[in-house]
Amino acid sequence: MADTHRPPEQFKLRLRRYDPESRQPPYWDEHEVKLEPHRSVLEGILQAKASFDGSIGIRCSCRAAICGSCGVRINGEPHLACHTHLDEARRLSADGVIEVEPMGNMPVIKDLIVDMDAVHWKKIQRVTPWLIAKQPVPEREYIVERESMVDITQTMACIQCGACVSDCLAMEVDPGFVGPAALAKAYRFVGDPRDDAHFERLNDLSEDPQGIYDCTHCFKCVQACPKDVNPMGQIMRLRRIAGSDHHIEDDNNGHRHEAAFVTLIRDYGLLHEAELLPRSYGGNSWLGKFHPNAGLELLRSSRVAALGILRGKMNLKTALLGHKLAKPDLQAIKRIYQRVEGAEKRRELNLYITGTDEDDGPTAGSAGSSDGASAAAAAESAAQPSPQSAVSPEGSIDL
Ligand code: SF4
Ligand code: SF4
Ligand code: FES
Repeated sequence: MADTHRPPEQFKLRLRRYDPESRQPPYWDEHEVKLEPHRSVLEGILQAKASFDGSIGIRCSCRAAICGSCGVRINGEPHLACHTHLDEARRLSADGVIEVEPMGNMPVIKDLIVDMDAVHWKKIQRVTPWLIAKQPVPEREYIVERESMVDITQTMACIQCGACVSDCLAMEVDPGFVGPAALAKAYRFVGDPRDDAHFERLNDLSEDPQGIYDCTHCFKCVQACPKDVNPMGQIMRLRRIAGSDHHIEDDNNGHRHEAAFVTLIRDYGLLHEAELLPRSYGGNSWLGKFHPNAGLELLRSSRVAALGILRGKMNLKTALLGHKLAKPDLQAIKRIYQRVEGAEKRRELNLYITGTDEDDGPTAGSAGSSDGASAAAAAESAAQPSPQSAVSPEGSIDL
């Protein structure tokens, strides 16, 4: 619990200032404020604004981590300014000075205020962010399984702060990527049994080259999110439902490419780069290796591969011959696949592996056991830190 009785201390803030209308380049501006250590960085900025420079631009409203308007970067990481203590921010700073910048991937309007309309809200609109009600609409209410509503609660916790958008690496390279917040929003409706457009939504986001398969699984959005929405996890669920349940084979080859990773890990325990493209295009058969599109893609990727080898990011020998995994480790991986894929009812256990789990109790798959399903369930639990994550008494909830 925060110590609310500590006396006020001096804190130094280094604020990124920029006014596009001034036609001057951005610059750093430093101010010292005096506040109790448990006070927020937002309070520090507001004190600097009130005491030294009323022109400091910062957006805020609730001051309680609810409205999502005070998203900034503090010491290079996305945070809610109202939800970050001054002492903690100072502790994590490089030189004792708390550095505050505007969020990334969005144009700066002024100082710490970014244009959410230009990027974040535009992308939210892209995913049809409302329920398309199943017909006929019942006279009283839809009756749905409570598990499905618990499932989407995680995405409903989003406060639209844009922190995930700010740090999304895919969006940095491809600003057209639909992005983590909007795709988490899409899952909110795909996971809702009252929505009547699951296939249309999934098909749209699978066929869009900047849709669900454009995410590079960098985990940045998972780390950035102050509400544990786990946007990347929601994107993986969208992919899984699109590919496994609706059998959508997108023209971008996204689903097959992902499936190639899954089968490669199952067969070798580690990635086998030389087989990745053939499997992506030709499937898991021997003949598939000669799929013409695989050759074309290989040619297209050869420059990137050569650069990877030159810069030491790839090893030619292991890329061609595959990485070697100790036999017991490979067998352990195979056991996970067998256990997960062999069961009758699907239970989502981690980012990629789908299958079923016949365990009944809420403790099924808890850490501490060394069997495959438990290890995979533990991985899921680690990847899903949401306080909303839950297992029903029947052990049937799939989050
Ligand atoms: S995991 Fe995907 S959506 Fe999330 S930040 Fe990385 S690239 Fe973006
Ligand atoms: S998913 Fe998390 S980080 Fe992204 S906008 Fe919603 S609350 Fe903010
Ligand atoms: S001011 Fe509302 S979330 Fe920070």
